[in-house]
Amino acid sequence: MSHLNVIVSAIADVAEGIRHFTLVDAAGRELPGFSGGSHVVVSMRAGARTYRNAYSLLSPPSDRSNYQIAVRLQENSRGGSRFMHEQVQVGTALEIAWPVNLFAISRVGRKHILVAGGIGITPFMSQAHDLLRTGANFELHYAFRSPRHAAFVDELRRLLGPRLKCYDQSQGQLLDPAALLSHQPLGTHVYVCGPGGMVDAVLDTAARLGWPDAHVHHEEFLAPPVGEPFAIRLAQSQRVVEVGAEESMLEAMEAAGVDVPYLCRGGACGRCELEVLATDGVLEHHDHYLSEDERRAGNKIMPCVSRAKCTFIELNL
Ligand code: FES
Repeated sequence: MSHLNVIVSAIADVAEGIRHFTLVDAAGRELPGFSGGSHVVVSMRAGARTYRNAYSLLSPPSDRSNYQIAVRLQENSRGGSRFMHEQVQVGTALEIAWPVNLFAISRVGRKHILVAGGIGITPFMSQAHDLLRTGANFELHYAFRSPRHAAFVDELRRLLGPRLKCYDQSQGQLLDPAALLSHQPLGTHVYVCGPGGMVDAVLDTAARLGWPDAHVHHEEFLAPPVGEPFAIRLAQSQRVVEVGAEESMLEAMEAAGVDVPYLCRGGACGRCELEVLATDGVLEHHDHYLSEDERRAGNKIMPCVSRAKCTFIELNL
């Protein structure tokens, strides 16, 4: 996969556990253009191991002089967010993949309701710039645990004025998806990014109120969970790749030099889907891409986040 070489030009702490990074092209050129809601995958080399995490771009898409990302330190981080917080300094060189947009604003929506929880605010930063530029009808609803945990509120307030509605949970201000999604004009689209519970609440409410699926958008990059080690047998190349307890199937295959396509690395896009030919155990699906029927069939897996409880799994690769 082609990549860009960038240098970290600034770092700032913007909320408890959230660090903001500004990245510039290593050769001083303009960076590639992108649209609101895009993300980049950052490669982090930690000794013999390479972590790759997806982060939304925060910067105005019209500004190609730099990219900005924000990284929340995950308590149970397997290394990626910890590496960004502890190892990366101003001047650090990083490798990033070209921007990809899996969370684009609908071109046909007449009104757009953006719903963010915590670090889920990040894709809406660039989307807000795009929506303002096109004069779209939109509002941003931003829920956070407390002001200490809320990144970019002042910047968003300046940018959006009354279009921004904040919900400070420490003050008992709770976002009510039913109230938000009821009585919206025909042609409204809703976009949600945040903790799983919030995403589910918005999706469930939209379904219950009869919103068309095509008008409901969400983004949630999941981290691969840890588990027991097992082996992958690659049927076409007759190779065996060992998957450690703390690495994903995708990471293990990459470390072994096996090329597997990906976009989100978080179980959302379906790009890494592989065919399962056999296993002596059970598949543990952690993505939110496969349908229940596909999971039951047991012949597909998303190696970026899913794994298996087994001694071996055989893939058509
Ligand atoms: S890379 Fe997107 S689901 Fe695996």
